[in-house]
Amino acid sequence: MGRRTWETVAKGKAFPRRINAVISSNPDLDLPDGVLQFATLDEALLAIATSEKIDQVYVIGGAQLFAEAILHPALQRIFITQIDEDYDCDLFFPQEIPAEFDVVSATDPEESDGLEYSFVVLEKNADLRNEYFLPDETD
Ligand SMILES: NC(=O)c1ccc[n+]([C@@H]2O[C@H](COP(=O)([O-])OP(=O)(O)OC[C@H]3O[C@@H](n4cnc5c(N)ncnc54)[C@H](OP(=O)(O)O)[C@@H]3O)[C@@H](O)[C@H]2O)c1
Repeated sequence: MGRRTWETVAKGKAFPRRINAVISSNPDLDLPDGVLQFATLDEALLAIATSEKIDQVYVIGGAQLFAEAILHPALQRIFITQIDEDYDCDLFFPQEIPAEFDVVSATDPEESDGLEYSFVVLEKNADLRNEYFLPDETD
């Protein structure tokens, strides 16, 4: 997650049952024990995705980190909660989803507290998966 998501959504507390990693250029960030910090998304992927203990890596926001992640060659799947409502917002999920992603599932609309929503999953075309090579540490 980006540093602002760590501050505003996680509110400085690690999400349970997963390894939490915060992306920030600030070397003086005061993070609890066990929460990892990386300067860039690639640095995080290099350290996390190569760990045998980790099966999947999720980018959970915010807008700035999503903007880089959506174009990242390692991205394989996008999970979207689509809410049928208009909001006055100042931050946005990337408007353009790369063309190599297809919708593979979408739930029927459900309702909660008067809001209609559905869960949508997009996957990168099967023939384009596994194209990603981790960046060379010497780069
Ligand atoms: N709807 C959702 O699914 C969802 C999910 C998460 C968050 N949010 C919302 O999104 C908002 C936060 O989003 P945001 O865009 O303001 O902030 P953000 O992406 O959470 O964090 C931005 C900060 O993270 C670091 N960072 C992010 N991307 C980076 C990159 N590609 N390379 C290097 N560093 C990077 C930088 O930290 P430094 O400045 O410390 O270097 C940057 O200032 C909050 O309001 C939150 O509620 C929504």
